[in-house]
Amino acid sequence: MQTKHYHMEHVINKYDLQEVSTMLQNGETVAFPTETVYGLGADATNEKAVKKIFKAKGRPSDNPLIVHVATKEKLLSLVKNIRPYVETLIDAFSPGPITYVLKHNAKVAPTVTAGLETIGVRIPDHPVALALLQQAQTPVAAPSANRSGRPSPTEAAHVAEDLTGRIAAIVDGGKTDIGIESTVVDCTGDVPIILRPGAISATAIARIAGECHVDHPSSIKKEMPRSPGLKYVHYAPEVPLYLVESQKVSHIIEELKKDKKRIALLYESDLLVQEHIEVKKHIGSDEDEIGKRLYNLLRSFRIEEVDVIVCEFPKLHDHSAIIDRLKRAATKVVM
Ligand code: TXA
Ligand code: MG
Repeated sequence: MQTKHYHMEHVINKYDLQEVSTMLQNGETVAFPTETVYGLGADATNEKAVKKIFKAKGRPSDNPLIVHVATKEKLLSLVKNIRPYVETLIDAFSPGPITYVLKHNAKVAPTVTAGLETIGVRIPDHPVALALLQQAQTPVAAPSANRSGRPSPTEAAHVAEDLTGRIAAIVDGGKTDIGIESTVVDCTGDVPIILRPGAISATAIARIAGECHVDHPSSIKKEMPRSPGLKYVHYAPEVPLYLVESQKVSHIIEELKKDKKRIALLYESDLLVQEHIEVKKHIGSDEDEIGKRLYNLLRSFRIEEVDVIVCEFPKLHDHSAIIDRLKRAATKVVM
């Protein structure tokens, strides 16, 4: 398949927009930017179209997709029996990097929800995504636009790297602003529960909803996680990654050097700049900056060049989405 490229980094050309939305309406797969990461979209009401997403990504079919819509009204039209706090959350955070898990009313294709009674749905805060959703006039199912198991794409080039020849089009909207996937929050119970941390924190949600719990992955049994996607290897770079507490980094590096390993260091603290290693990259200085850079950094290490990535454990709070993603990407955690 020939993958067509569209450029909407600066202006949204209405003819291009029309062409891309027609592709979606015709059951094709289109990668597009959101404020978090690029999504691989297809018409959520078209079973055949949705199946193309799973095929292109090599995604297991028991992992449900997030549905994207442009407005609160569209969002509410896909769900039923919502709790009173849900609309308050939508008003506070959407459009924005948050996905609500709610009881669905069977308007989307069954493959989208992987047979669950619930649907994950969100309103992305990106001009290109919103224009496309408005134009296509259909809910769009879209997981992150990477090959399954790879870091999520934060620029169009990442999508091209993973999916060229496997999807109909890539819409380039420049680098994504946040760089980490949306907060997934289960809103089916009395109290919202965060299933996947993201830019919108439990504290921020609790401020609006009164309360918010966090579903800790360690408390989830491997066979039956609440968010099906969480049981798979995620965000993994090509090269094995050791996530190492600051004080232990130098020691681990010495050990690896003895084994003649080619090491790449991803560091946060300035002290570690002194380490004698060929490939050294700064992970970023605060949560926002690390979020923007993380997946691009993880993608930048190639197996031909290094044997192992040593990543300093960044000093962020425990519930940080960055820590969550780094732990998932790590082959080994040294604390
Ligand atoms: O920021 C994002 O959320 C990006 C952009 C493209 O919107 N999308 C994204 O989709 O990260 P994906 O498919 O890579 O991750 C979706 C996550 C998975 O962990 C999946 O299991 C969970 O959301 N999910 C989707 N529907 C669900 C449901 N009904 N119940 C529980 N978890 C659900
Ligand atoms: Mg993903």
